[in-house]
Amino acid sequence: MDQASGLRDLIHKYSNDIWDLRKTERAKYKHSAPKVIAVTSGKGGVGKTNVVGNLAIEFSRLKKNVLIFDGDLGLANIDVLLGIRSKFHIQHVISGEKSLSEIIVTGPENIRVIPGGSGLQKLSNLSEGERLLLLNEFDSLDEQVDVFLIDTGAGISTNITYLTMAAEERIVISTPEPTSITDAYALIKVMYQQHGTKTFKLLVNMARHRKEAEAVFNNIHSNLSRFLQDIQLDYLGFISRDECIQKSVRKQIPVVICFPKSTSGKQFQQLARRILDSSDGKKDVKTLSFFWKKFMSNLQL
Ligand SMILES: Nc1ncnc2c1ncn2[C@@H]1O[C@H](COP(=O)(O)OP(=O)(O)O)[C@@H](O)[C@H]1O
Ligand SMILES: [Mg+2]
Repeated sequence: MDQASGLRDLIHKYSNDIWDLRKTERAKYKHSAPKVIAVTSGKGGVGKTNVVGNLAIEFSRLKKNVLIFDGDLGLANIDVLLGIRSKFHIQHVISGEKSLSEIIVTGPENIRVIPGGSGLQKLSNLSEGERLLLLNEFDSLDEQVDVFLIDTGAGISTNITYLTMAAEERIVISTPEPTSITDAYALIKVMYQQHGTKTFKLLVNMARHRKEAEAVFNNIHSNLSRFLQDIQLDYLGFISRDECIQKSVRKQIPVVICFPKSTSGKQFQQLARRILDSSDGKKDVKTLSFFWKKFMSNLQL
């Protein structure tokens, strides 16, 4: 057993005490809170990973420390999009083999990624000790994170729903395709009816023009009309269907880096500003471990 893993065993054992101690310390020194945003969709292949990767770069350009959690078990993962390689993933942290900082991979423009990998399945089935260990690990990251972006898989499987529920903001992506619209609507409805989640932001991807994007929003909004006393669905805007994105995916370089002046490149830039502006002025201090605590307590329900 190396020194580091011995230490982690100790942390495991005393994690309750450490958790309390850290909480007191944080209350004294903490000034800003990480913003936790989950990007999700009903249907796969609608552009979640591209949105997460490009927004991350734009947030970083706006001087934010960005951490991505790759919660998508799909094929084209965020590491592929960013052209980075990861050897370890969240399971290595859960098992105590690695610390969170040891599995984090740094991508272009200093954005950092926590690979979810096969550990994602384990997330909804953690022992008490594993939960505390994870909370402690995330707690230690707080000071270095302004925006925590979660690339969720598509659909409504347990893990995805709980990650999406626990986030402060949910960006649901739909394309103008009827199947994508129906699935986005179903996702919102299920999140509300089964889990009581009430606030969502809709981003339309691959739209041909503004009117088409707005029609997608109006379609989903009007289908939800009987729930709208409770559900708040905001329109976040759209990203055009743009060949530059496909080219950038093939190059494994996000479009805002390889084609910053393209239509979609400029749209991502504006979108990142809008998202940050919309949350300026919110004063409640939350932490990354607050997010994970919420995630884990939902699992116990
Ligand atoms: N705005 C867009 N314009 C054109 N093609 C896009 C756009 N967004 C995504 N794509 C294409 O769709 C594919 C799937 O995108 P991806 O981000 O991997 O979706 P998801 O993560 O939702 O499965 C990409 O490989 C890319 O070729
Ligand atoms: Mg994806």
